[in-house]
Amino acid sequence: MTVPSGEPAEAPVRLSATTTCPDTWPVFDRLWRDHGPVAHVELEPGVHAWLVMGYEEIKTVTGTPRVYSRDGRDWRAFQDGAVPPDSPLGPMMFFRDNVAGHDGEEHRRLRRPIEDAIAAVDHRRLRRTVEYLCRGLIGGFAERGAADLVAEYAEAVPLLALGDLIGFDPRQSRELLVAMRALYGSGEDAHEGDRRLEALLSGLLAARRADPADDIASLLLAHPDLRTPAEALRSIVALMSAGNHTTMSWIAQTISLMLTDPRFAGRVRGGRLGIDDALDEVLAVAPPMINMPARYALRDTELGGRAIARGDALVLGLAAVAHDVRAHAGSQFWQRGNRAHLAWSAGQHACPARDPARTIARTPSRPSCTRCAASGSPSTRPRWSTSRPRGPAARPASRSPSRTPTPEGPTAGIPGRARERDPCRTVAPGAAPPGSPQPSPLASDRRPDRPDRPDGPAGGPIGGPGGRDRAAMRDGSGHRTS
Ligand code: HEM
Repeated sequence: MTVPSGEPAEAPVRLSATTTCPDTWPVFDRLWRDHGPVAHVELEPGVHAWLVMGYEEIKTVTGTPRVYSRDGRDWRAFQDGAVPPDSPLGPMMFFRDNVAGHDGEEHRRLRRPIEDAIAAVDHRRLRRTVEYLCRGLIGGFAERGAADLVAEYAEAVPLLALGDLIGFDPRQSRELLVAMRALYGSGEDAHEGDRRLEALLSGLLAARRADPADDIASLLLAHPDLRTPAEALRSIVALMSAGNHTTMSWIAQTISLMLTDPRFAGRVRGGRLGIDDALDEVLAVAPPMINMPARYALRDTELGGRAIARGDALVLGLAAVAHDVRAHAGSQFWQRGNRAHLAWSAGQHACPARDPARTIARTPSRPSCTRCAASGSPSTRPRWSTSRPRGPAARPASRSPSRTPTPEGPTAGIPGRARERDPCRTVAPGAAPPGSPQPSPLASDRRPDRPDRPDGPAGGPIGGPGGRDRAAMRDGSGHRTS
């Protein structure tokens, strides 16, 4: 048995209970009531860990790398073989040779190129790219009069935008979208998706080695801190896989609230909640990463009144922290302006890409775009799938095709072409940009099974991007390990 050595008397809670039940709010309330800020949980039968739910406790764990390591080789269950190499926990919990798997100087070396690449993002251009993408995607499904808003919108926008940032042309970005959908769909084509993703990214790096351009791929290749092309590849894979499903989940959850929660939508539409505050509220009450794996104790210690033993695993309860009354003064609802959520985590591994993520999420989440993307029909309710990230798995939309012409035709290139600040004021049927997804492959593997859920199940014990779809969590930050 792999148990935290300070195992408390009470039976552990299956961590999957925090991601699979229809309403997770009472589950976290009960966990807090019964366990306090650090709960004894079971990841898989016989594999135990600590779920760290307290604000201060998460800050301690993420801010003390001398005591809490990010390196899966420090996990006792890994060292003593209690978790086999082919365990489904492996992709999330085992060591990954990239920025997310290292601490100390090696982590700083691998993180500097990523921070430099993110700092170089031209937000004005990115915003215009996203506006153009939104207009094109909405125009594409407006023509059909129906759409899966998660697959065809919330998922497509970040991936196509990130594809553009790293250096893909629209056609390659669309191929990337199809490959990542296959990979993270955990279906029969997952391996083919993995192979295709690798080929696309390797091809991009080879092209940029020969002919550098103004994009993230070229910047990473030229960065003095990355020693080999393989490190550049691992970094780009980390960026793509960490950024895509998280941002998709953020957009999908915001759209879902806008369409199904009149209180939330009213505050946004009435101007009481600006779009950035609305996005923060979503991060606070429904963060994309529900449970973030993991940290490993480097020595015996104490946390939140629990005895933590060397080698114990600790999962960051980034959703549970919203229930910490010490940080939120007992209010279940997010207070405007309160930034005490930990959706980006904290410490040296905290998400380095908050700004581009926000630039990408802002436009598709705006009320005008949300209204535009979905019909006002009350019969169009979100559908949910156990295999998709937190948030609605599918949100059907039906609408009449718009007659409003787009200012630019469908052949316009993505970057820097959109002139409208609000892309949804001008939506033309058939205006999908060359990089936009084709309808059929995008919506093909939906398994809608939980209508009307306010919060999507993630399936696995970790939740957040990937959930049961573990491929999306291969390195714990939503990164694949390459
Ligand atoms: C809503 C959007 C996003 C959320 C909620 C989010 C959240 C997170 C979280 C919780 C972590 C893990 C921190 C830890 O282990 O303590 C992380 C790490 C990371 N994220 Fe994000 N992320 C988002 C978007 C993005 C985007 C768009 C990118 C890239 C363009 C990105 C790149 C990364 C990278 C590279 C790391 C690893 C950093 C490290 O280990 O030093 N993320 N993110």
